Amino acid sequence: MPPALILSTLGEPLALPTFYSISMTNLTHTQTRLLSQAAVFIQDMAKDPRYAMGEQDVSHRLEAIAAEISNTGTYVHTEDELCFGVQWAWRGSNRCIGRHMWRTLQVQDCRDVRDKEGVVASLQQHLQWAWKGGNIQSVITVFAPRKPQQTDQPDPVRIANHQLLRYAGFEQADGQILGDPHSTTFTHRMMQLGWTPKQKTAHTPLPWSIWIDDEETSPVDHFAAHPEQFPEVDITHPDYPGIDALGLRWYAIPVISEMALVIGGITYPCAPFNGWYMGTEIAARNFCDPQRYDLTEKIGQAMELDTSSHRNLWKDQAMIAINQAVLHSFDRAGFRIGDHHELGAQFERFCQVEEKAGRPLNGDWNWLTPPVSGSMSPQFHRDFDNSVAAHTNFFYQSGPADDVSARSSAPVEEAAARSNDPFHLENQHETPRCPFGFDKLAKVLPIRRPSSKKSSSHS
Ligand code: ARG
Repeated sequence: MPPALILSTLGEPLALPTFYSISMTNLTHTQTRLLSQAAVFIQDMAKDPRYAMGEQDVSHRLEAIAAEISNTGTYVHTEDELCFGVQWAWRGSNRCIGRHMWRTLQVQDCRDVRDKEGVVASLQQHLQWAWKGGNIQSVITVFAPRKPQQTDQPDPVRIANHQLLRYAGFEQADGQILGDPHSTTFTHRMMQLGWTPKQKTAHTPLPWSIWIDDEETSPVDHFAAHPEQFPEVDITHPDYPGIDALGLRWYAIPVISEMALVIGGITYPCAPFNGWYMGTEIAARNFCDPQRYDLTEKIGQAMELDTSSHRNLWKDQAMIAINQAVLHSFDRAGFRIGDHHELGAQFERFCQVEEKAGRPLNGDWNWLTPPVSGSMSPQFHRDFDNSVAAHTNFFYQSGPADDVSARSSAPVEEAAARSNDPFHLENQHETPRCPFGFDKLAKVLPIRRPSSKKSSSHS
């Protein structure tokens, strides 16, 4: 029998091997697309020696997935698929310079956690697991997936915070912001919902905003009750006491909690994950960006530099000093932190090993090149292919409040207009860019003819 012809969502005929044609003929276009994403993902997984999957295993699993999609509209990842999936999503994150560590990411499987107390307990467990007494390790907690095609269904769990640990930004009477300006809108919302911070400082930890079944629950001021779970470092410089006197501090663990995780076409809208910091993220961006703590001038003055003209490069001197201070302070506290030279070199080695093995990496030059001493990093001198592996990756997404209102009005058109960012979830629907390309799916699926016994059970 010739391969069955099925129209892809892009309108091109998609040749699929006979082996799959039975289970696939009754799939809708969206379901076919989900199956194609699952197929690329399972193929990627099979190439990982840790899972010892042969062609037979791949065939069986894809057949089961096809049947499950046909019956339920979705499919459920096995534990192994979840473990590999989160790691593969990290490996495919074009903007991350720490990806050489992708195989070390550990999963907390919370797909069956459905209530607020359970979510809080899971997040607490996540932080404990990640912390390791300062020797931070990468952890991801995965909550329930979204049902494909059921865009009117509520998301079981969402977290509205940008990160689990983050400082509030309080708008003051004179229009100035006390704290992190990045957090002003969120801080305002939390206070509207009844959050009363014990103290308003430049470093007040924000509460958690947990959504259950599309309902916003009251803010959880977890760190007010458990300050020990919010490890922080006071920033000092070995040579400039003026910098110590600025009273700067930063938290130790970056846990991104607002992004969507996609594995083999299945979206997990709540999957907080952490790594550890690279010094420049705190020193160059969080402390010195004009739209953040905007401290360059204060640092220059604290160092007693001549700040009357930029010509003496006092800004650059201040920038280097605050970067030294952050690394020095984390090191002294015994908290894990990377520097841009070390991570740049490790990433370059990773690119070389992967290229040699025929597994090239995609990347986003603008993000991979560090914000200080750019041309000293190997990334500066490379070109990267910035195409997105859409079947398995991390994506930006609208916040739960926007998603809930989109679900109750015209969802598709409104959502599509929101962002042009190629790393936004909304922009993955019409232009799936799997590494193999949607139309080449037939080449990815095993075309091997099944044995006669097996083919009879499927024909
Ligand atoms: N850049 C963000 C921040 O400064 C953190 C992003 C994730 N970083 C990481 N090293 N895993 O808070």
